[in-house]
Amino acid sequence: MEPTLEKLKSKFDKALVAAFGQNLAGTDPIVVPASNPKFGDYQCNVAMSLAKKLKDKPRAIATQIIDNLDITDFCLSPEIAGPGFINISLKPEYIETCLEAIIKDKRLNISPAKNPQRVVIDFSSPNIAKEMHVGHLRSTIIGDSLARVLEFQGHDVLRLNHVGDWGTQFGMLITYLREAFPEALKTADVLDIGDLVAFYKQSKKRFDEDENFKEKSRKEVVSLQAGAEDSNYAWQLLCNQSRREFKVIYDLLDIKLNERGESFYNSMLSGIVEGLNKLGLLEENDGAQCVFLEGFTNKEGEPLPLIVQKSDGGYNYATTDLAALVHRIEKEEANRLIYVTDSGQANHFAQVWQVAKKADWIPENVEVVHVPFGLVLGEDGKKLKTRSGETVRLRDLLDESINKARNDLEKRLKEENRSESEEFIENAARVVGLSAVKYADLSQNRNSNYVFSFDKMLALQGNTAPYLLYAYVRVQGIARKGEINFEMLRKDGKIILQDEQELVLGKHLLQLNEVLNIVSVELLPNRLCEYLYELSEKFNKFFENCPVLKSEEPLRTSRLLLCDVTARTLKLGLSLLGISVLERM
Ligand code: ARG
Repeated sequence: MEPTLEKLKSKFDKALVAAFGQNLAGTDPIVVPASNPKFGDYQCNVAMSLAKKLKDKPRAIATQIIDNLDITDFCLSPEIAGPGFINISLKPEYIETCLEAIIKDKRLNISPAKNPQRVVIDFSSPNIAKEMHVGHLRSTIIGDSLARVLEFQGHDVLRLNHVGDWGTQFGMLITYLREAFPEALKTADVLDIGDLVAFYKQSKKRFDEDENFKEKSRKEVVSLQAGAEDSNYAWQLLCNQSRREFKVIYDLLDIKLNERGESFYNSMLSGIVEGLNKLGLLEENDGAQCVFLEGFTNKEGEPLPLIVQKSDGGYNYATTDLAALVHRIEKEEANRLIYVTDSGQANHFAQVWQVAKKADWIPENVEVVHVPFGLVLGEDGKKLKTRSGETVRLRDLLDESINKARNDLEKRLKEENRSESEEFIENAARVVGLSAVKYADLSQNRNSNYVFSFDKMLALQGNTAPYLLYAYVRVQGIARKGEINFEMLRKDGKIILQDEQELVLGKHLLQLNEVLNIVSVELLPNRLCEYLYELSEKFNKFFENCPVLKSEEPLRTSRLLLCDVTARTLKLGLSLLGISVLERM
């Protein structure tokens, strides 16, 4: 079945041409979901935008459009409101038919993308020898969810972990370890990540204070980059150490990523600088090779350069990103490059892309997008820190959430006099604890900062993961109680939307397709969260007002199917957020 919005758009297209002639063919008819359910289900706002062109009043234009509009088979008669909005309400019979089609379809009738793209999503991307912090957690959760949505729509997605595994910090760290703990450079696994982070901090201190150490570290980087065997071996050991720690987090969060760190682009860096040179874009500034930027100035108002090669010959973060960009476009043949990092890096990407555009390395059919996000704040409104002021370790954070979920669950089991196996408790606590953290992050507009609060994210009420999981569990409870086999009912079940709450729920169930389209364009997972939250609310209202198991046929089957399709929509939607459901909780 054609998605309703598409169908309406093409009907309005035809009406515009029929009313005003061929020269309006291809005009965007501006059909959108209604801003308020009072006004119906959809609205068309094109009449206002045509007033000037057609030299007529919007309301008169709206009337002419309606006179040529052929939607009686699926809509009630349209109404003109205010300055010239055309309000559309779907016929209940049409909603019923759509729902029946959704119920029969494995993908819930979600249409695949019309023009599938090759998409590279650069996300998570922590740094070796440093602990993954909350910012990386945001990138990981948001990036994974965007990847899931785009994959589900049929795009060819490459998930890349642009790990910080190259550069000066390794010179420092290896030099320091050669002195302080040479064993760590020869034998695997003698350090754990905590030690590594501590050594990193100490080496940084030495680097800042001790000229001699600084010089040695520089030499170490040079020999590493030139491929010296012992330096490379040491580097490999350090990377493996961090990698193992990252993997624990990724496994816990069920994140799939291909590691392709900064080092991967090492051999391409000189070519990038050479390329810029050939194009006449390079300038020397204080011994460094730079490209001067437009629209970026320093404190004195002078134009800012993007350094692509330092005076000591080394390359930097920006050079690597230029190489990565070219590689992703040329070798990976991507049409869409997405970078999920904190908003602090917005300038970095804007600068890199400006240079890439100057060099003509971004073809017209390729879109590059930064997906920025805000900070995670503690309940004191400041950047999230432990009580002692350290950065919060992700492992600890996730473990704490699971523990708290477990405490809540055990308390509830006691209150309800239920006894459950240890296996059940462990699994439920893990799912609830992890989904609460993911959902709390995803449900915020990512551009803003948000306050991290275990109490809020684990609450059974409000826009939280437990609330949504509970709506799903409710449906499974109905099935158990009534010994219902949903699969059988789906085969040729009829939907009857009789009660107001049923109609409201039914309409909402039709909108997932449109919501996913919005998410994939705007790259805002919170839109999907909002949708699922409203779905749960509407379902709960329906369930409180309309008896299900106790109603008479054929209403009973119809209501059971509404429950089932709600649960399936929740399950699918949550899976696209990287959240799995529970059958009981
Ligand atoms: N490693 C960087 C950081 O921790 C993030 C990398 C983002 N991706 C990129 N292509 N620059 O801040």
